Amino acid sequence: LKTWKSLMLASTLAAGLTFVAAGCAPKSAAPGGDSAQSGNQKEYVVGTDASYAPFESVDSKTQQVVGFDIDVVKAIAEKEGMKVKFVNTPWDGIFAALNNGERDFLVSAITITDERKKTMDFSDKYFEATQMIVSKDGSVKTLNDLKGKKIGVQNGTTGDTIVTDFLGKDYKGIKRYDSMPLALEALKNGDVDVAVGDNGVVIDYVKNNKADNLHTAIDPKFPKEYYGLAVKKGNTELLNKLNDGIKKINEDGTYKKIYDKYFGQQ
Ligand code: ARG
Repeated sequence: LKTWKSLMLASTLAAGLTFVAAGCAPKSAAPGGDSAQSGNQKEYVVGTDASYAPFESVDSKTQQVVGFDIDVVKAIAEKEGMKVKFVNTPWDGIFAALNNGERDFLVSAITITDERKKTMDFSDKYFEATQMIVSKDGSVKTLNDLKGKKIGVQNGTTGDTIVTDFLGKDYKGIKRYDSMPLALEALKNGDVDVAVGDNGVVIDYVKNNKADNLHTAIDPKFPKEYYGLAVKKGNTELLNKLNDGIKKINEDGTYKKIYDKYFGQQ
């Protein structure tokens, strides 16, 4: 129904990606720059920790940030006539970058939590998740089974919080890594006995590492988590736009198409 055109421009940032969407006239790429042709249109800088496939990762061939989250935000941007640029931003520091204005909003499989709501505002939820335990032998199925084990998590994630709350701050066996791939590598190397992380990421990893014969489990006590887009506290103008976009892509089936593309046959 609607015609739209996207331009991918070489970004000055290694893992940056510029996406132009919405009912604006097609623009030609400006060599060497990413905003020369954009006139007065604001370009929203979107922070994402792109080490979290299938939600966000850097495509090894194109160096562009790709994934479910990226497609969702592009679709929202198209509906809202927003120009967005994704900038790879390490998890450790991603919320600071939002707070100090270096990023306009974040998409990073971020779980909406009461604690985080104190320092940032969240859009409506766009994805349901939960924690998942992954191990080599499958002997660890519940939080309780984690006792006495070495556990790998991504530092400062909800997985970290759940494990730390259960085992206590002083439990020595929790190894906190800067990224989820590092925690999973530690499992592979035997540096930890299990890893705990978001189900979507763990499932993707297990699928892509079949030879390792990894086992997964979900403790029924793990709460449901919901991902939201994060904006700086008080930025209701942007928040309203994003929520409007989320509503639109849900209503017209765009969200379902993106969902099926990534999670269709599981
Ligand atoms: N959902 C978890 C949380 O909010 C993990 C998110 C990690 N995201 C990422 N792109 N590394 O804590």
